[in-house]
Amino acid sequence: MAIKRVMVIGAGQMGAGIAQVAAQAGFEVLLHDANETALDKGMQRIEKLLIRAVQKTRITDEEKTSTLNNLKRAEKLEDARTCDLVIEAIVENMDVKTKLFRELDEIALAHTILATNTSSLPITEIAAVTKRPEQVIGMHFMNPVPVMKLVEVIRGIQTNDETYEKIAQMADKLGKTAVEVADFPGFAANRILMPMINEAIYAVYEGVASPEDIDTVMKLGMNHPMGPLELADFIGLDTCLYIMEVLYDGFADSKYRPCPLLRKYVKAGWLGKKSGRGFYVYN
Ligand SMILES: NC(=O)c1ccc[n+]([C@@H]2O[C@H](COP(=O)([O-])OP(=O)(O)OC[C@H]3O[C@@H](n4cnc5c(N)ncnc54)[C@H](O)[C@@H]3O)[C@@H](O)[C@H]2O)c1
Repeated sequence: MAIKRVMVIGAGQMGAGIAQVAAQAGFEVLLHDANETALDKGMQRIEKLLIRAVQKTRITDEEKTSTLNNLKRAEKLEDARTCDLVIEAIVENMDVKTKLFRELDEIALAHTILATNTSSLPITEIAAVTKRPEQVIGMHFMNPVPVMKLVEVIRGIQTNDETYEKIAQMADKLGKTAVEVADFPGFAANRILMPMINEAIYAVYEGVASPEDIDTVMKLGMNHPMGPLELADFIGLDTCLYIMEVLYDGFADSKYRPCPLLRKYVKAGWLGKKSGRGFYVYN
């Protein structure tokens, strides 16, 4: 059965972005959040971004209206019963995600695909709590979703080819490029990005150069649009540490050891841009 109706669960940074691009691509989208205020905020954020896109002539007023018509609030999780695909974008916590997937498995129709936007948790383990592990898959969007072109499509050990094909086609319809990735810690994007960020932090820790100079090396020397420490502050240092722990534990390999300076910053509450201080100070 073709994917027509999609439920996105979690109306935060990622979920609202995913709901927006799916509604823009013509899918019927239901956006759900356990927290009503978060759902209100997510819906408002989408409308604001669409208004801005019209002002900047990136989309027409008609496109804005049809996108908003395609998008509905879902107060109840039970509305997942009407959907062909559910994309979960809730908090990055295995217990909370597996509880939700158990519930969704009971609610959703037999053909429905259950996808997760997790950035680090094993798809195989999430799939294993359902009675449809072959229809569970990772769909890892990048932040901000309306701008970034990549979706890592992660196959759990039991994900079948039909599910993979449908999700790769869906990513294409959303205007994204899908890359097929196997289910190993950090998938591909974070397995490569996070050790680079961690190494940049080691360079600060060992006094090789200042954060500003390290970022300059990578921007001017490697043509990176942002330096690794600027990027770490943007992502959140707690998130960077969390993903390094996933790599370190998942591979049991010392090459992924989180830098002690990263741990110290997180302990101090220096989480980057969101807390006002990380490798840089923000107003
Ligand atoms: N932020 C990023 O850069 C990024 C990038 C790629 C993937 N991800 C992944 O996307 C997911 C969401 O991240 P985010 O940054 O959007 O988080 P966020 O905190 O902005 O939003 C999460 C939302 O989920 C809701 N929620 C929590 N538990 C719920 C439940 N049981 N049922 C329904 N709603 C629930 C919260 O109310 C909140 O609105 C995480 O798995 C994260 O790892 C994040």
